[in-house]
Amino acid sequence: MSEIIRMKNIHLALGGTAILAGVDFQIKPGEIHALIGERRSGKTSLMKILAGEVKPNRGTILLNGNPVVFSTPQNAVHAGIGMVHQNLQILPNLNAVENIFTNTLPKVWFSFKKYARYIQAAERIFNRMGQDSLNLAVPVGTLPAAQQQAVEIARIMAQNPCVVILDQIAERLSKAEMDRLFKLMQEFRHDGTGIVYITENVNEVFDIADRVSVLADGCRKSTEEVRNLDRLKLVRMAFNLALDQQTKAAPVVLRQFNESVIRNLPVGVLIFNQENKLFHANEEAERLCGSTQDELLHRNLSDILKSNTMLGAAEIAGADRKDLKQAWDGAAFGCAEFTRIQIDSIQDEESNPLGRVLLVQDSTLDQTMVEYLARAEKMESTAEIAAGVAHEINNPLGTIRNYVEILRLKNTDSDTGDKLNRISSELDRIVEIISSLLSFSKIGAESRAKVNLKNLVKETITLLGHRFRNKNIITLFHPGTNAVIVQADENRLKQVIVNILVNSIEAVLDGGEIIITLNIREKSNTVVLSVRDNGSGIPDTVIKQIFQPFYSTKASRTNTGLGLSICKHIVESHGGKIEVKSIAGEYTELSVYLPLLTDAENGVFLQQGEMNFH
Ligand SMILES: Nc1ncnc2c1ncn2[C@@H]1O[C@H](COP(=O)(O)OP(=O)(O)OP(=O)(O)O)[C@@H](O)[C@H]1O
Ligand SMILES: [Mg+2]
Repeated sequence: MSEIIRMKNIHLALGGTAILAGVDFQIKPGEIHALIGERRSGKTSLMKILAGEVKPNRGTILLNGNPVVFSTPQNAVHAGIGMVHQNLQILPNLNAVENIFTNTLPKVWFSFKKYARYIQAAERIFNRMGQDSLNLAVPVGTLPAAQQQAVEIARIMAQNPCVVILDQIAERLSKAEMDRLFKLMQEFRHDGTGIVYITENVNEVFDIADRVSVLADGCRKSTEEVRNLDRLKLVRMAFNLALDQQTKAAPVVLRQFNESVIRNLPVGVLIFNQENKLFHANEEAERLCGSTQDELLHRNLSDILKSNTMLGAAEIAGADRKDLKQAWDGAAFGCAEFTRIQIDSIQDEESNPLGRVLLVQDSTLDQTMVEYLARAEKMESTAEIAAGVAHEINNPLGTIRNYVEILRLKNTDSDTGDKLNRISSELDRIVEIISSLLSFSKIGAESRAKVNLKNLVKETITLLGHRFRNKNIITLFHPGTNAVIVQADENRLKQVIVNILVNSIEAVLDGGEIIITLNIREKSNTVVLSVRDNGSGIPDTVIKQIFQPFYSTKASRTNTGLGLSICKHIVESHGGKIEVKSIAGEYTELSVYLPLLTDAENGVFLQQGEMNFH
């Protein structure tokens, strides 16, 4: 049999939008088949159809030559098709063994021996994956992201699949973990399993795949043997198709597009004709030369570069298809302290010389980057030291607290009593600061219990009541009708809500509005807690950094910039995620996604947990 799977003429439309428009796709035994394309090109949808998660509007699937219909994911799993998702589908409150064998485990445990067999099987799989240190006893939601991914892959391996689909998994893995995974894929492939590797990274295709198919706009544009391709050709196939279509339809648009790319490049571009006379300079080149394009036009290359540069003008003029990268003392380009230049000749398709292009780069930008990285490193170690100190302060703090309490009990003098009260409240503040430092450094111990999220939000709103009133803020809470129960550390979750609400309070003007909503996503069994305010909003340049520790745009000394980084850590340690949407000057919405407790987790599996097999 030359193929395990053949998908024929697959059509899919969602909400009236065509996602897939007649795709044919085949998977051969023992091949690693990369599926590449731009975001929203239909890659995941095509594979979700194969995994029985999405029903196509039209099309057929043949498994080993026989037509099959996978109307549920279970059908596909039974037929030997396993998919590792981009958004992990592990059950965060169950341990790794329960996750791997979730379909096979007996619902009630009669025998410890039987469970031990499952543990051994799980250990064997993790050994094979090089994940020997993975803790099988704790809820998977508490494991690092890469190990959570390993659990999902192990779940697929345990099913002895004939086809494995890996959907953009590289994002969660380190280089070493990726290398291990590649090795594992080789093993699978030797056993005859077909592997589909969905990616947007051309390099990965060359690292691992035998064949590659390119999807664009819901169509398969081509399938090629990787060994017959070069990188550029693949990049062009996968990402330039839209541009090609544009070329045919609208050459003027394309020319404008190219011109605006060159104009806005952060690199100075000076283009010279064959006589070495300048005929184009972009904005960055004008800035670096300190002259406008009109002033530079028709001037000679050597004239522009002046004669006191490290590279003689004659040498540059003579350089042909040779890259010259040189540190430049900046004399030629008045404004930049350090400048790097590169010169190359331009040729037409028949290799006839057309002229030269000189790229000039202000390397003070690199300098800024180096400084930034050094700062980031310092921040990290500062955080570590701060956390270490905080940890050490905890014990003497406890002793001081005890003595203050003893003195308070003994003392009847009101003046001393007042002072002791003040000492005590200042101690409370120190405890609070320390606990936020400890959360930040992940040292604090976590506990888990069932938490009613609606009540927790209500309590937190009440807690912050005076702050809402001080600014006359209108607060609306839409809790929804269903019960919202999550497995969580209540205090930490409260900290998340407080931090997010305090940011909103700080962002809105007097009389502003904060809307808090709880929404259940039944499909993914998730609750989304969102907090939306009509405050200052977050500019695009800031939004990428707000979850970084010590990042704050606030002038006040009390704002450490730790708030959201702590939230992110806490939410992720609960198997969730946190997202932000904002338009500067209009609104900010923070959304916290948390896994809901399922009935199974509430019932059968909790009993297993209580029996404690380890
Ligand atoms: N609701 C919001 N509206 C506007 N900007 C926000 C909002 N929430 C967060 N930000 C931006 O994100 C940055 C980081 O927030 P974070 O809570 O981590 O730190 P902070 O509030 O500045 O300091 P801290 O939380 O330690 O008091 C803020 O300085 C602010 O620029
Ligand atoms: Mg904050």
